[in-house]
Amino acid sequence: MKTYQVNENGYYGEFGGAYIPEILHKCVTELQDTYLKVLESEAFRREYDQLLRDYVGRPSPLYLTRRLSQKYGCRLYLKREDLNHTGAHKINNTIGQILLARRMGKTRIIAETGAGQHGVATATVCALMNMKCVVYMGKTDVERQHINVQKMEMLGARVEPVTSGNMTLKDATNEAIRDWCCHPADTYYIIGSTVGPHPYPDMVARLQSVISEEIKKQLLEHEGHDYPDYLIACVGGGSNAAGTIYHYLDDERVKIVLAEAGGEGITTGKSAATIQLGKKGIIHGARTLVMQSEDGQIEEPYSISAGLDYPGIGPMHANLSATRRATVLPVNDDEALAAAYELTRLEGIIPALESAHALGALNKLNFRPEDIVVLTLSGRGDKDIDQLLKYKQ
Ligand SMILES: Cc1ncc(COP(=O)(O)O)c(C=O)c1O
Repeated sequence: MKTYQVNENGYYGEFGGAYIPEILHKCVTELQDTYLKVLESEAFRREYDQLLRDYVGRPSPLYLTRRLSQKYGCRLYLKREDLNHTGAHKINNTIGQILLARRMGKTRIIAETGAGQHGVATATVCALMNMKCVVYMGKTDVERQHINVQKMEMLGARVEPVTSGNMTLKDATNEAIRDWCCHPADTYYIIGSTVGPHPYPDMVARLQSVISEEIKKQLLEHEGHDYPDYLIACVGGGSNAAGTIYHYLDDERVKIVLAEAGGEGITTGKSAATIQLGKKGIIHGARTLVMQSEDGQIEEPYSISAGLDYPGIGPMHANLSATRRATVLPVNDDEALAAAYELTRLEGIIPALESAHALGALNKLNFRPEDIVVLTLSGRGDKDIDQLLKYKQ
């Protein structure tokens, strides 16, 4: 059977690997040698599962929408990651990685963040585990996601605004990697998505796979069988999507739809639709699709949504697209905004702008009335209220 999972060398098809500076070689190799042993150990599982249950509030509900299902002519479920502690799926990953960091004897945590959700989730687990925390965040994002900056500071993290490039997620990640190169011995880098050198994409996907594990159980309860016809999620680096599809990757009965940020439109030069626009290259330690110029310079992405504003994509998703296992749809800013208002008015749920891109894909698909569709609502809209109100509909 074909598998879309990572192989023993850290590749998904031709994507993935670990392209890192020499100075990081020792800590990345150490991580590669350690992560599976720890993640699969009984002691880790016990602590991780207990925190997911009692601290995060899992399982997150699988909610069958009524009015939205009517509108799109299918049975549309929302996987409510927005109801997790700290407001998004990001905490599933940070809890796992901080438990790993502690077992590896690390004392200092660094992270990058775009929308601030991963930064808040990292600052939260650092408070919980009494670890020093530095979060790198582009200055553009510091401004557009200021509520999350205040939360991180209140939690005791130091937020470092980054002023290179267009001052968004790519630039924050560059700075975090620079920091890691300067402190490889005591510092653990909690990457917030399925990006970076092997083993990060696989490790983050595993830690987020609790989402599809729960979807299976919940669908069995609701529908009498454990698979949907469609799974839909937005992709920035790809972690909520990876978690949503993890246990269905090799089940071809299930169609996978990924929504990436079209920005102002994929032909306008103001877009972050990496899978549509990217070419093969290397970014932040992995071979994947990258938005780049003819001579290989990384191009500045653009999206209204800070969490999707990234010129790369996880290697798992690059491979899913290359092999046509997944359908990838660009959703533009205006479509995401309209979808955010639609969910708010039809179901009384205000979504994060990132998640609104997944909702914006619904319009582009044709469902049969009996189709079971599960869409992951990766986060809540509190952090985006200023922007959502600016475009009031
Ligand atoms: C709510 C939410 N959804 C989605 C994303 C995109 O990240 P990923 O593709 O890793 O799920 C982010 C990133 O910050 C986010 O905050």
